[in-house]
Amino acid sequence: MIAQSDTAAETHSTANKELLLRIRNLSVNYTTRRGMLGAVDNVNLDLYRGEVLGLVGESGCGKSTLGKAIMRMIPPPGRIDTGELHFNGADLMAVPERTMREIRGSRISMIFQDPMTSLNPVQRIDRHIIEAIRVHKTAMSVAEANEMAERLIERLGIGKRRLRDYPHQLSGGMRQRVMIGLALALKADLIIADEPTTSLDVIVEAQFLDLLRELKDDFNLTILLITHNIGVVAELCDRVGVMYAGRLAEVADVESLFLDPQHPYTQGLLNSVPNIKLDGGELYRMAGQPPNLINPPSGCRFHPRCPHAMARCSQAEPSWMELKPGHSTACWLYEEQIDK
Ligand SMILES: Nc1ncnc2c1ncn2[C@@H]1O[C@H](COP(=O)(O)OP(=O)(O)OP(=O)(O)O)[C@@H](O)[C@H]1O
Ligand SMILES: [Mg+2]
Repeated sequence: MIAQSDTAAETHSTANKELLLRIRNLSVNYTTRRGMLGAVDNVNLDLYRGEVLGLVGESGCGKSTLGKAIMRMIPPPGRIDTGELHFNGADLMAVPERTMREIRGSRISMIFQDPMTSLNPVQRIDRHIIEAIRVHKTAMSVAEANEMAERLIERLGIGKRRLRDYPHQLSGGMRQRVMIGLALALKADLIIADEPTTSLDVIVEAQFLDLLRELKDDFNLTILLITHNIGVVAELCDRVGVMYAGRLAEVADVESLFLDPQHPYTQGLLNSVPNIKLDGGELYRMAGQPPNLINPPSGCRFHPRCPHAMARCSQAEPSWMELKPGHSTACWLYEEQIDK
């Protein structure tokens, strides 16, 4: 049965899980010379402890902006215009910047495509890790913290002698591992990873994903994984959110999304992924381009590119509905079914 709902919150697959992050009606705008650019528009999303939620969509659809907004790290001229962010019981929109800095330093870790931007270039790896360990274990001796850093780095598949290296002396793959290690040392509740494997070659990427999968199970990690790469989503994610032009188009368990995508945009996105097991036929290319978010299309923002577009698609925004347990979308095709 199709149920109309404002969010993908209470669903069959998530019913018994602990809600870690609740995002409601989040909108982020950047002021540009050509006008206001709505990078994230009225997004509702929930994240449960211990899950990996993939966030996918074409370039410019607002994935990184959403990730940064959760940490209240939108750089000017951008700002969160409306919305609620509830994290582990705290109202992130209401806490002072000082508290937010503490949350960023310990409870939520962000991992970017280029870890050099987050590591201090003149500080050795051991100092980074020991500082992270000591955020919680203030009374721990230097010797104990050192020992813990050695165990941690070896768990990440890096020899302990590399602890004495500076960030630039490590490979890109090792630096990403160190970033995960810092999140583990901090015992971060949430890791937001923005394209963490984009700069890695495919072998190193596969090793990194294997490690992440192991650590996710061993440490019950909660990860928001922002990526262009549908293959990475299939490897690692439990649930997936598909973004289009600043809005969520679909949210579903990973199997449900891959086997039975509902939104025409998700269908196009999945059809555009090369599959080496297929017969080598021509790759599908979705028509058109994502819109300019200063002046986005009316109604459903996907309608100019949608093969199923009807008159009403350009007239009004479809509402968010749960089509089956754990699988929600916003598309007039399904509202049409309800109306019948
Ligand atoms: N600092 C900024 N000033 C103005 N516009 C911005 C700024 N940062 C992002 N934008 C715009 O906001 C929109 C969303 O950008 P965002 O970086 O969140 O997309 P994305 O989905 O992460 O893309 P990608 O996959 O390329 O990383 C885009 O239209 C982008 O041009
Ligand atoms: Mg991005």
